[in-house]
Amino acid sequence: MKILMINGTLRHGSSYRIGRLVIEKIAKKDDQILELYLPKDMPEFCRGCATCIIESEKKCPDYLMYMKRVTRMIDEADFLVFTSPVHVLRVTGAMKVLLDHYGYRFMVHRPEESMFGKQAVCITTGAGAGMRSTLKDMKQSLFFWGVGRIYTYGVAVAATKWEDVSQEIKEKIVQDIDKLALKFIQEPEQVTPSIKTKILFYIMRHMHQKGMNPIDQAYWKEKGWLEKERPWKKKVK
Ligand SMILES: Cc1cc2nc3c(=O)[nH]c(=O)nc-3n(C[C@H](O)[C@H](O)[C@H](O)COP(=O)(O)O)c2cc1C
Repeated sequence: MKILMINGTLRHGSSYRIGRLVIEKIAKKDDQILELYLPKDMPEFCRGCATCIIESEKKCPDYLMYMKRVTRMIDEADFLVFTSPVHVLRVTGAMKVLLDHYGYRFMVHRPEESMFGKQAVCITTGAGAGMRSTLKDMKQSLFFWGVGRIYTYGVAVAATKWEDVSQEIKEKIVQDIDKLALKFIQEPEQVTPSIKTKILFYIMRHMHQKGMNPIDQAYWKEKGWLEKERPWKKKVK
């Protein structure tokens, strides 16, 4: 299995440490674990040109330098681990910047087929508030990408550094992650999209049948999704 961790900061802080705890739970001996750090691995703001949506993602000004590599790593992974601390009640700016670049992958446009067979965990830590909205920032994007199974974990750590997090909270985190890990599907081949994801797919399918953006419609047609094919029937790696 390939596991990709995408970190919303450069810090090996509390959010990262919890992400690593999750990875310890899922990784088997020969699994590949890769990490990306933001903003280092994708430091450019979305310019809002919408070229990715109306023409091609390959024409994004950040495609060759950053997005090509990051996208390949995301597409090749079976399991995605997103971490971000709460920064003023939301994900870090760096995480938002990455998510902005994938607007074209929303199901309303051109979702990537392999997403439907992936699992993802979104993790956040805050000093005290904003975990729910921060998790929502990440989870909603992944949901609209079509990620098959999405899990979330947020915790108030009452600290700005992992070293300052109390032993009691650390023990609770370990227990919570043990529980969360019970929900994960062990074999990547067995991951199927949730009912909610399938419902969204069918709503979007209906819209694409009517036709909105010609490029998006051509994509759905080419995939066969407007006919009998479904993205969860075959896994593209
Ligand atoms: C710029 C900034 C904004 C923050 N905003 C919040 C906030 O809105 N709510 C909160 O509970 N903690 C906030 N914090 C605290 C961090 O979310 C908290 O310490 C977190 O555990 C740090 O995670 P990390 O160690 O993974 O970086 C903020 C920290 C920074 C640096």
